[in-house]
Amino acid sequence: MTDSTTQHTNAMILNGKELSNQIKVEIAEQVKAIVDSGKRPPHLAAILVGEDGASKTYVKNKELACERVGFASTLLRLDASTSEEDLLQKIAEINANPDIDGLIVQLPLPKHISENKVTQAIDPTKDVDGFHDVNVGKLTKGEDTFISATPYGIIQLLDRYNIETSGKHCVVVGRSNIVGRPMSILMSRSDNPGNSTVTLCHSRTKNLGDFTRMADILIVALGRPEFVTGDMVKPGATVIDVGISRVDADNQRGYVLKGDVEYDSCAAVAGAITPVPGGVGPMTIIGLLQNTLKSYQLRNA
Ligand code: GUN
Repeated sequence: MTDSTTQHTNAMILNGKELSNQIKVEIAEQVKAIVDSGKRPPHLAAILVGEDGASKTYVKNKELACERVGFASTLLRLDASTSEEDLLQKIAEINANPDIDGLIVQLPLPKHISENKVTQAIDPTKDVDGFHDVNVGKLTKGEDTFISATPYGIIQLLDRYNIETSGKHCVVVGRSNIVGRPMSILMSRSDNPGNSTVTLCHSRTKNLGDFTRMADILIVALGRPEFVTGDMVKPGATVIDVGISRVDADNQRGYVLKGDVEYDSCAAVAGAITPVPGGVGPMTIIGLLQNTLKSYQLRNA
């Protein structure tokens, strides 16, 4: 029911959870064909250093996703006190293992370990996170590579929901190496999805709302819960919320998950929007699975 005083809109919900389940079925079919032909399945290895609660959840979800599609997976759990040298040694062993196609080291790492040294130590042909300089360079040049998992997942979400990007103004908020910057590059590339005019905003941007209100596609990856409010969104825009913060709450878990976008006020204005949870998060895992499958295919070509 509508009345004259309440604004009711029908923002399309970009359901990453549902779409990811559909894509997992597609990947599982490909894996089944591989295994039926007598070959080993794709194999993803993950290294988790320390006890960070969110990282443990992410790695567990990645393992479960591997199981769902029929990949082999190996999880190496290392103590928070593990030395950088020992971690680099483990990476070298996995790089040399011909039965492993993809390797991720879950970030963040304990302070005494250089994230840069670690990500650069991974064999670029097994770097299914797409964090190695070689793969970042290829992405920047528009060459075929491992696109880092979250941007890759968002690209597929836009693609599968037929969101037009060509000639549109895409505003990315956040310039991280994992999401914001690669996302800005992908949206400006000469491809579909892509061909957008891109503005990259960040913590030093003045009058942020003036930019976000110009966005046909607004991608927010700041890590600040409910930072973007409905008044910052252009009517009809597509809003992609990459944030997933644990905010203290008086419930059994002790927290609730919040995106960077204030959902209700933005959904009332947007044409399409991703929920948190169940939007970008599950699509990130799809990006990782697809990169692992691609690595497998390249090494078994
Ligand atoms: N920490 C947060 N996001 C990611 C990711 O996509 N990959 C890894 N390895 N660590 C992360």
